[in-house]
Amino acid sequence: MKKNGWIVLLLLVAMQLQAQKFEGLALTPPMGWNSWNTFQTNINEQLAKETADLFITSGMKDAGYLYIVLDDGWMAKERDSITGDLIPDPKKFPHGMKAVVDYVHSKGLKFGLYNCAGTKTCAGYPGTRGYEYQDARFYASLGIDYLKFDWCNSEGLSAKEAYTTMSNALRKAGRPIIFSLCEWGDNKPWLWAKETGQLWRTTGDIANIFDGIKNYGTWHANGVMTIVDMQDTLRKYAGPGHWNDPDMLEVGNGMKVNEDRAHFSIWCMLAAPLMAGNDLRKMTKEAKETLTDKDIIAIDQDPAGMQALKYAEKDSVQTWLKPLKNGDWAVCFLNRSLSSKDLSIDWKQMTVADNLSGTELNAVKNNYRVRDIWLKQNRGTTANPFKTTVPAHDVIVLRLAK
Ligand code: GLA
Repeated sequence: MKKNGWIVLLLLVAMQLQAQKFEGLALTPPMGWNSWNTFQTNINEQLAKETADLFITSGMKDAGYLYIVLDDGWMAKERDSITGDLIPDPKKFPHGMKAVVDYVHSKGLKFGLYNCAGTKTCAGYPGTRGYEYQDARFYASLGIDYLKFDWCNSEGLSAKEAYTTMSNALRKAGRPIIFSLCEWGDNKPWLWAKETGQLWRTTGDIANIFDGIKNYGTWHANGVMTIVDMQDTLRKYAGPGHWNDPDMLEVGNGMKVNEDRAHFSIWCMLAAPLMAGNDLRKMTKEAKETLTDKDIIAIDQDPAGMQALKYAEKDSVQTWLKPLKNGDWAVCFLNRSLSSKDLSIDWKQMTVADNLSGTELNAVKNNYRVRDIWLKQNRGTTANPFKTTVPAHDVIVLRLAK
């Protein structure tokens, strides 16, 4: 082969190896913690390090949480006037951001940052528009593992183009970084972002209320059930490596324990990314138990990567079904009302042939063992009818195993 031929071949191999680094970045929904829901822009080095320590001591890491993501507010108000680089706020991060990243990595965890496709972030810090490749190189030099990319101050931009540019910039910079699109579902990213990033927000911001909306005048945030109502039509777009993101968790942020449990359960049924949004330094025993329950997390992290389907809705109780690996199914009865509801389920009547997963739930043909995920109780098999009471604003989650 001539010299030029060898060079072309080597370049092709290098490009292939580069592309492979980005394969399989989020085969199950990413799990971690994000600063925004509790701290907004009041973040700093100490908070990030303490949170990393608490990932270990509270059992969050053991439960599968890996990413510590600092949201809006980590930057100084202006870029470096000579280089144009982003500058971590020197007051909040007196030892620079690399020191924080290294600390988080030293705990066996991963680290993420936030920016915006527009000229400024939502809180008014320097945005990435026009600096995509430079910022991507900066993130790679810091050694980050996750980038949340927002959509404020993006007037005149095409979302698909802007997010594709940043995605390409991250690939060019060469460090595998999970790319989390946050344009609130405005431009239907589920239709075009599968190759662009690993997760995309499907809605506006979440609020720490069970239902309804929180009105802030010029904008509003959505209660947990309001978000749930926007998810079931998006089911077919989620799968290993590309997830619908109904926003970060509000567990531990003021709802009742049962409401937190319902919120967390339905996020797991939806195969949602699980980004805790509470103050781990003040986490109650109940919030910790909810966030770290391995059985419900196994439903979220199931390798089949299927989002649940809404099977039925009757008298304020929704039934969600999630096909799992090896023919198992998760069943979630979600009581959205303020009174408890009695249920009597004849499994043989609940048959589903799911085209998306290519599996079926069929208790006529199969006898499944029934296990209550939260109560940690075996509840017989699907040969017999299942009777239960779902408390108000709560769930019963079952795993049906073949
Ligand atoms: C938007 C996002 C939030 C958060 C804030 C930060 O509202 O949707 O999740 O990142 O910006 O300013």
